[in-house]
Amino acid sequence: MLNYTLFCTVFLLEKKSDNWILMKTIHTINELQQQLAAVRERNEKIGFVPTMGALHDGHASLVRKSVSENAVTVVSIFVNPTQFNDKKDLEKYPRTLEADSLLLEKEGASFVFVPTVEEMYPQPDTRQFNYAPLDTVMEGAFRPGHFNGVCQIVSKLFDAVKPDRAYFGEKDFQQLAIIREMTRQLDLPIEIVGCAIVREPDGLALSSRNARLSAVERENALKISQSLFKSTTFALTHSVAETQRFVEEAIWASEGLQLEYFSIVNGRTLQTVQRWEDAEEIVGCITVFCGEVRLIDNIPYKTSKK
Ligand code: PAF
Repeated sequence: MLNYTLFCTVFLLEKKSDNWILMKTIHTINELQQQLAAVRERNEKIGFVPTMGALHDGHASLVRKSVSENAVTVVSIFVNPTQFNDKKDLEKYPRTLEADSLLLEKEGASFVFVPTVEEMYPQPDTRQFNYAPLDTVMEGAFRPGHFNGVCQIVSKLFDAVKPDRAYFGEKDFQQLAIIREMTRQLDLPIEIVGCAIVREPDGLALSSRNARLSAVERENALKISQSLFKSTTFALTHSVAETQRFVEEAIWASEGLQLEYFSIVNGRTLQTVQRWEDAEEIVGCITVFCGEVRLIDNIPYKTSKK
């Protein structure tokens, strides 16, 4: 422990020679709010990155963006039980707080908020969030209650942090759309910033779940992103239905992979499209089991981004 603290300190002093402030770890909402009140008094912007830990370079990219755009960045690490509809998945979720803290300090986060379950849920949360049809398709159909749990915890975290901006990865494309809708419907003054998927050099989308893949599964998993990438070229000369079949057949033919769904959807409404002309933004969203590990990924076919 002493070595770890010493290492963090030396590391930080090296990185922040002009700003000798150590990242602070906070466990209660009360203390977090006290710390942030001082920030608000200075009229400084607060960026927020909610996570469940087991951080990788995808998370690091969100933190980097927040640090570059706000005076203070808060990162939460909380494995939220209400969003797991599979208890085994919750138990197996990797917990790597020491390594996570190191990564966050390196990226310049100001506060890491690590609450207990009792802190976030002093009583069971019975609130129901319904953003149909955004939350009834794809992940919403295969993981009943998942997005309700996500909205429960994100709304509580937003209430605790009251950030100016909050950062979410586009890998969880549907989650991002639902959080945007929740923020809009609750009329929260928070800018939701979507950040591009970060991939391994060979194309596999970064995910905390990748740590659970065996070497063989890791190799098999590569077929997911490869099929998606190939399908973008295929889509240039084929219909939506043909592109749908192209990806499905590629996954069915791949060793060790089991397709849960592949949907080609309007990027705004998340409803399936029949023709490429049906929407300005079109995304292919996929979920595949690689052994016991459930992986998600997505690819834009049409984008309205400049
Ligand atoms: O994307 C995640 O890691 C989680 O769903 C989130 C947003 C931190 C809520 O628990």
